[in-house]
Amino acid sequence: MLPQARLSAISSAVPEKAIPNSYFEQIIETTDEWIVSRTGIKNRYHCAPDEYTSDLCTAAARNLSAEYGIALDDVDMLLVSTVTPDHPMPSVACQVQKKLGLHHTGALDVYAACAGFSYAIALAKGLIMSGTHKKILVFGGETLSRITDFNDRTSCILFGDGAGVVLIEAASEGNIGACITGAYGEGGIDLYISGLADHIDHQEINRSGKIVQNGRKVFKWAVTTVSAEMPRLAALNGLTLDQIDWFVPHSANMRIIDAICHETGFPIEKTLESIANYGNTSSASIPLALHQGVREGKLKKGDKVMIFGFGGGLAYAGTVINW
Ligand code: UT7
Repeated sequence: MLPQARLSAISSAVPEKAIPNSYFEQIIETTDEWIVSRTGIKNRYHCAPDEYTSDLCTAAARNLSAEYGIALDDVDMLLVSTVTPDHPMPSVACQVQKKLGLHHTGALDVYAACAGFSYAIALAKGLIMSGTHKKILVFGGETLSRITDFNDRTSCILFGDGAGVVLIEAASEGNIGACITGAYGEGGIDLYISGLADHIDHQEINRSGKIVQNGRKVFKWAVTTVSAEMPRLAALNGLTLDQIDWFVPHSANMRIIDAICHETGFPIEKTLESIANYGNTSSASIPLALHQGVREGKLKKGDKVMIFGFGGGLAYAGTVINW
C-alpha cells in the first residue's frame, strides 16, 4: 500500500520588533483608521538588521520541537517556501539545514510567493506518497520588510515578517486531501519584485528591487479566482463548502477574505486569518493563521480545514486537511 501523508505538528516564529500602525503615521501620510478599515491590519513584525528568513525558519522548527517534545533528527527533507531568501544561492533550506544541524536532509526552496506554502504542501504529499521521503518539514518564511518600498503608502503598511512550519510524515492514515494548483502568468506584471530582466511581458518594469503591486487588480483576481476554485476544491475532496470547518486563505487583506465569503456564502466566523496581528506575510500567512488557531483552541482534531494560497505569479494552490 502507498504510504499516506500526515500533517502532525505545527509551529511558528516572528521577530521581536512589533510595528503598530502608529509607526506609519510618523513616516507617511496615513492613519490607523485607514489601515484598519482598508486592510484589517493592526500590527506586523519587522526583522532586525542581522535577522534573515533562515533564522525565522530555524526558530519556528525549534519551537515545533519544543512544543511537541519531539526530536527532528530523522527529518529527511526541508522545503522552504519564500520570496525573501537570505541569498539567491545558497537556498534558505540549505541554511536551515546547517542551523538545525540536520546533516541527512534534502533541502529545497519553493518559489510561488503567497501560494508557496500551499504548493509546498502538495509537493511534500507527493514526495511522501511516492516513498521518496518519510518526514518533511514544510516552512513558509519571509522577511518582506527587506523588500518593502517605504515610500509607497499603498503597500508599505501591508507587509510583515515571520515563519510557520508543519511536519508532514509517512503514516498508514493520511490527512492531506486532494490538492489543486494553478497560475495566471499574464498577471505577473501586477505583482513583482524586479530581478534580472528589465521587462515582464515586454513591459518595462520598476527596477527598485522592492515589491511593486497593482493592488486593485490583484484584489479582483484573488476574489474571482478563489471564489470559483473553493467549491471545486471541496468537490475534489468529496465535500461541499458547508462541510468545511475552517477556511484559511492567504491573509493579504481582510477585505479580500470578506469578499470571498460574500461571493461563496462561506461564513466569515469559520475563517482563520493572520492579517490583524502579523500583516501580509506572504508564504508565512497560512501557517501563522493555523498556529494561532491552534493556540486559541479553535482548531480541533478531526476538523476539515481548507487552506488556499494566492498571490505573485499570479499563482494559487490549496488543499483540505483533516486536522
Ligand atoms: O499578498 C499577495 C496578494 N496581494 C493582494 O492580494 C493585495 C490586494 N490588494 C489590496 O489589498 C488593496 O488593493 C490595497 C490594500 C493594496 C489597497 O487598498 P485599496 O482599497 O485597493 O486602495 P486604493 O489603492 O484603491 O486606494 C484608495 C485610496 C486612494 O486615494 P484616492 O485616489 O481615492 O483619493 C489612495 O491614495 O486610498 C489612498 N491610500 C491611502 N490612504 C491612506 C492608499 N494607501 C493609503 C494609506 N493611507 N496607506
